[in-house]
Amino acid sequence: MQTIKSLGINEKNHLTMGGLDVARLAKEYGTPLYLMDEDIIRENCRIYKNAMDKYYGGNGLVLYASKAFSCLHMCRVVHEEGLGIDVVSGGELYTALKAGFPMEKVYFHGNNKTRQELEMAVENNVGRIVIDNRTELELLSEIAREHDKTIAVSFRIKPGIDAHTHEFIMTGQIDSKFGVALENGEAEEIISFAASLPNINVVGVHCHIGSQIFDIEPFLLTAEKMVNFIGDLKDKHGIEITELNLGGGYGIKYLEQDNPVSYDEYIKNVSRVVKEVSDKRKIKLPKIIMEPGRSIVGPAGITVYTVGNVKRIPDVRTYVSVDGGMCDNPRHIMYGANYEAVLVEKPAAAAQEVVTIAGKCCESGDILIRDIALPQIKTGDLLAVLVTGAYNYSMASNYNRIPRPPVVMIKGGKAKLVVKRESYDDIILNDI
Ligand code: LLP
Repeated sequence: MQTIKSLGINEKNHLTMGGLDVARLAKEYGTPLYLMDEDIIRENCRIYKNAMDKYYGGNGLVLYASKAFSCLHMCRVVHEEGLGIDVVSGGELYTALKAGFPMEKVYFHGNNKTRQELEMAVENNVGRIVIDNRTELELLSEIAREHDKTIAVSFRIKPGIDAHTHEFIMTGQIDSKFGVALENGEAEEIISFAASLPNINVVGVHCHIGSQIFDIEPFLLTAEKMVNFIGDLKDKHGIEITELNLGGGYGIKYLEQDNPVSYDEYIKNVSRVVKEVSDKRKIKLPKIIMEPGRSIVGPAGITVYTVGNVKRIPDVRTYVSVDGGMCDNPRHIMYGANYEAVLVEKPAAAAQEVVTIAGKCCESGDILIRDIALPQIKTGDLLAVLVTGAYNYSMASNYNRIPRPPVVMIKGGKAKLVVKRESYDDIILNDI
């Protein structure tokens, strides 16, 4: 339970989140239910913002990577906290737009933006388009000309760094679908070409080496390489890059044994490298941008389920099936991710047996937690899976035509529904 700061136990011996009884919330909103603590989300935004202000003297910007969890309410919270936002699709951009997010603080990523998405970004004056490849650059240049606008762009660079994380979420190496490579000159070539285009204003370079990274070393090496690259662009091509976006990827504590470094510590160390190399290369300190996603929302969320069947297979395994699964949390089936869980009505009881928490989807791999020690568990119990705030709701699907759960935010001791539960009618909404 130490993985989530706002969890506690009340006089009824029930789990609480932000002071509210989780069993009561489950009764009110039904299960499965995503519960998120808005106070923690805001606190995380401030930790990043304050660290960036402290170490870059105001010449920094934190973008929230909205792929981790996006909805209108979240965009409003992020705006209120003074952060910018990273979007990676027309849908994420549309959500920010509809939430009234200031478009100049929106950074548009993605390795295959469509013409329609690029037009939407240009028409709405999105702050930066982060170019992934030459096809996109040429398309954007054409759209910019058609709209008679000059577009400020940044470039997604593969710095050639191995980030020691799951293969599926590792993105800094040359064998990646994202961005252009440093080591074979591809990055230099595309940027010098872009600088020759009339409707394109080359402003920044960007990198993102992967996600759920605990080591600080890859971040330091990346910062060093990127600042040196900025130096090379100036020395060889006379191109001045004023913005360096170092991406996201800072790891969070999913399990008791996970031990992430504090974000302040990361930012402090990275800023030291950025300043040292900038001095050495005699370039003006660029504006530094960061894009945390997981670390802002992950530790603010839990998912509450109701236990259905408990299948004890003697000498083999006990399957505890819940009323959700890979449709609301595909992270175990995709990455073999592990979670902790507690029984909502007896969170402090001693563990008595090792069980496997299974989902209700028609798929043997639909497991949420393999081999977790829990107190005696029975049909009807409420189970809370912890640290599900990032990449759960945003990656949820309607597999098996299961409606997606609602999201309830807790702030200042009050609960508020921010995303409704989908209905069966929602499921057939677009069927003809
Ligand atoms: N910036 C860019 C360009 C990214 O691609 C990502 C994540 C981030 C920022 C935010 O990274 P974070 O701080 O959240 O690690 N679905 C996977 C994670 C995929 C991450 C994709 N990109 C998971 O559930 O582990």
